Amino acid sequence: MSGPAVSGNPGDGFFVALEGGDGSGKTTQQRLLADWLAERGHEVVVTREPGGTATGTALRAVLLARRADGDALSPRAEALLFAADRAQHVAEVVLPGLRRGAVVVTDRYVDSSLAYQGAGRALPADEVEQLSRWATDGLQPDLTVVLDVDPATAAGRRGRDAGRTGEDRMEAESLAFHTRVREQFLALAARRPGRYLVLDAADAAEDVQRRLREHLAPLLRSAAPAGARP
Ligand code: TYD
Repeated sequence: MSGPAVSGNPGDGFFVALEGGDGSGKTTQQRLLADWLAERGHEVVVTREPGGTATGTALRAVLLARRADGDALSPRAEALLFAADRAQHVAEVVLPGLRRGAVVVTDRYVDSSLAYQGAGRALPADEVEQLSRWATDGLQPDLTVVLDVDPATAAGRRGRDAGRTGEDRMEAESLAFHTRVREQFLALAARRPGRYLVLDAADAAEDVQRRLREHLAPLLRSAAPAGARP
């Protein structure tokens, strides 16, 4: 899965992607991170995939619904819909935010497709990567944070939160599926350690957040604080 070099971030902003399995606590970490960034004077764009735009919200409903009629989404159709959501998200939310100098924090990005559609559904990884690269025009995060969680632990957390019937189409996949997803996130992080931070999501949320802030603080020099913008 080697590819061309990272496509440059087009603005003064900074692009952070939070990745990890279902139930890894990304939403909590995103909220805590946004609070901290705002306190430091940054404009923060909090967003997510799938569903960061109006078009994406419609796609999300198709992607995550568990259909009673048994009409399963094919793996390739699934990959294309996630890529379509991402293309719209980049064009409408991520790029404009970066151009304004904001810190854009997305809950999931390209690596989710590499992990879920590539490793989980076992589509050829290089093809899923090419599809995502085309969808994003090569835009990659400045930092990807992997919240690593044991799939069995995460399933237990979700069960407490929502009950088994509350699981969406992806969450309802097998433990083997979620184990492949986890291994792929870790493999991607190992491939380019300078662009990744792997944190143990089993730790207390405040500890995870503290490590994330410690790692991010020196990297944020490139993002202009809101007060410094003209
Ligand atoms: P969501 O409710 O946002 O889950 P989470 O809170 O765990 O992020 O649902 C998103 C689901 O879609 C999640 O199971 C991961 C999956 N997904 C993919 O399979 N491929 C992708 O490219 C993306 C962005 C998400």
